[in-house]
Order: sequence, then structure tokens, then C-alpha cells
Amino acid sequence: MLHQAVELQTIAREAPLQLSVVIPTLNEAGNVKPLLEKLGIALAGIEWEAIFVDDGSTDGTPELLTGIAQSDRRVRMVRRIGRRGLSSAVVEGALASTTPIVAVIDADLQHDERILPDLFRAISDQGHELAIGTRYAGNGSTGEWAESRLKISRFATALAGPIMKTRLSDPMSGFFAVRRDVLLEAAPRLSNVGYKILLDLVASMPRPLKVAEVGYTFGTRQHGASKLDEMVALEYVELLLDKTVGRFVPVKLVQFGAVGMLGVGVHLLLLDLALNALGLAFAWSQAAAVVGAMTFNFALNNRFTYRDRQLKGFAWIGGLLSFYLVCSLGAVANVGIGSLVYDQFHGWWIAGIAGAIVGSVWNYVASGWLTWTR
Ligand code: GDD
Ligand code: MN
Repeated sequence: MLHQAVELQTIAREAPLQLSVVIPTLNEAGNVKPLLEKLGIALAGIEWEAIFVDDGSTDGTPELLTGIAQSDRRVRMVRRIGRRGLSSAVVEGALASTTPIVAVIDADLQHDERILPDLFRAISDQGHELAIGTRYAGNGSTGEWAESRLKISRFATALAGPIMKTRLSDPMSGFFAVRRDVLLEAAPRLSNVGYKILLDLVASMPRPLKVAEVGYTFGTRQHGASKLDEMVALEYVELLLDKTVGRFVPVKLVQFGAVGMLGVGVHLLLLDLALNALGLAFAWSQAAAVVGAMTFNFALNNRFTYRDRQLKGFAWIGGLLSFYLVCSLGAVANVGIGSLVYDQFHGWWIAGIAGAIVGSVWNYVASGWLTWTR
């Protein structure tokens, strides 16, 4: 009895946590300490903790955080090895929290932490479910952005319009606070690809959210470099596809099909080259074009469609050979089905398309199983 009372006392000694701040990091060693200092100042009067989610930084960020977390109870770290992705990192950090409200902020000081209390209170006091930092409303601004980046950001924002169930002025922002139960409700439906966790969140909720917007000026990076690369655009398209056609067909099949279309172009190009420029016989030219197009399809799918299971080195060659095998069987299926349909309906182009579709779907399914094994 006495023992129990003592234990309860220990647990209740500190005021309950009110806010978890999730901070994704990838090589942010120079920013972690200044950020924590700034958070301490901005969040005075709120019981908060920081949950860093590190995806295999190699610049000492996780070691630095380990040291800080050992002496500062407000700091925790989720460490992921061999995985990468901003959205999934944020979700994992948020799911590791137990506070009623979760905020997300970049580690690189580009998000103005001074509006965090406003985001927090919009939810805790004013009954909103989501509060976002915005560069496109109120006092918000994009700071020192080049006109070209502004245009891209606006274009991407416009594309997002149709899939959002909640109107947001800045769905691309990675700076927001949300009620944890709302996040849990959305979690099973999230696409989890790419960078756009906020967009994913509002697109995944079956209903509009009560949202508050607070303007801020996007800062300039002082330490380290941006991790946004050429893949970001592709991941954005994947997110949009998953949220629209994803219910009916796998996004990878759409990508596989798009690569296949390009492959037809490559085939015709090679055929023209071999036949007309090099003067080879048709059969040889066609054979060379087939091999060339298959190799092209393999390389592109390996680079984009299946970059999560990308084959390298020896495995690349093994993958290519298995892809040749898969496509050969696909060709047999293509001709077989095509002939069957032709016998039935005598429409040459219907038969051609039917054969091509069956062949392509076979290639997709079989290569996902044989070539890009998990
Ligand atoms: N854990 C983890 N894993 N963190 C990551 C990853 C990742 O794969 N990629 C980036 N980060 C971390 C960075 O360390 C940084 O703290 C934050 O996520 C933002 O990454 P930046 O590389 O600085 O992105 P940015 O500044 O170019 O883009 C930011 O602003 C955009 C606004 O236009 C991001 O917040 C974007 O989501 C946002 O759209
Ligand atoms: Mn940044």
C-alpha cells in the first residue's frame, strides 16, 4: 500500500506533457543545438518534449542527440537504420508520442519556431484540430526564394487542390501542429511517400478538419544542405497518383506502364537506326530493338518504379537477365492472347491491344516477383 503511494507520487511529480515536437533529421549536426535553444525560449510556459527522428545521418547527428538526451529529459530520439523518407519519419515520430498535441518542425531553422505557441493554442484553447504554419497567408512569406522556385511551389500547390478535403493555403508546408487522435485516425490511410506529410494527412482524412493558419517567413539555411533532390518531384507525383487512382490500381503498375510506353518509343528509334541507318535485315533489326527496349525498361524501372528495391552491381546484371526471361514469357502470352482474340473478333487492333495489355500486366506481376524481389 505504502509502496504503491510512493510510486504514484514519483509518476505525478512533474506536470504532464502537453506537446511533442517531432523533428526529422538527416545530417543536421550544426542545427540541433541552436534549434533546441530556440524551442526552449519559444515554448516557455508549455510542457514540451522533442522527438527527433533520424534516418541514418552520417555527420554525427544521432551521437550528438544521444549525448543531449542523456542529460535533458525533454529530448528523445527515434533512430531508423537503412530507411529514408521524410513523411514516414514524421509519422513514426508522431506515433511515438503520447501527448494530446503533436507539432512537426524542420530541424534546419527554416521554420520560425516563434509561432509554435500559436499553433499549439489554436488546438488546445481554440478547438481546432489542425494548425499550420503558412507562407501564403497572413504575415507569411517565402523569404528569399528565387522566382523559379516560387513558380514550382505554386504549381505543385495547385495540383494538390482536388485531393484536399480541407482547404489549406500552404499544403506543401512541413510545419504544423495536429491533435494526436486525428493523426491516429488518418494513419492507416496515409500514403507515406515523399516529403508532403501535411498534404498526405489532409488528403487521407475522410472529412474536412477544423484548421487554423498562422503566417511565418521561411528562413534561409545556415548549416548543412537541403535534401530535396530530383526525386522529390517524382515522389510528389506518386503521392498524387496514390491519392487518386491508387484505390483502383497500384501506383507501381501506372509507373511500369509509363516506362513501357517510353520503351515503345525506344524500340521504334532503335529499329529505325538498325534498319535504315545501319542497313541490317529486318529480323536482326527488330531483335536488336527488342533487346534494347527491354534493357531500357529494366534500367528505368530499376531507377524509378522500384527504387525502393533498387538492384546494384552484380544484382543489377542478375536482375536484367531475369527481366529478359520475364519479358520473353510476356511476349508469348501477348501473342497467344492476341491470336485468341483475333480468332474470335477479327479486329486486328483490339487483338493487338488485348495482347499488349495481358503481356504488360504479366511483365509487371512476374518482374515484381522474380526481378525486384523484396
Ligand atoms: N528523418 C529524415 N529522413 N529527415 C529528413 C529526410 C529523411 O529522409 N529528408 C529530409 N529530412 C529532414 C531535414 O534534415 C530537415 O530537418 C527537414 O527534414 C527538411 O528537409 P530539407 O532538406 O531542409 O527540405 P527543404 O528545406 O528543402 O524543404 C522543406 O521545406 C519545404 C517547403 O517548400 C520541407 O519542409 C518540405 O517538406 C517543404 O515542402
Ligand atoms: Mn530546409
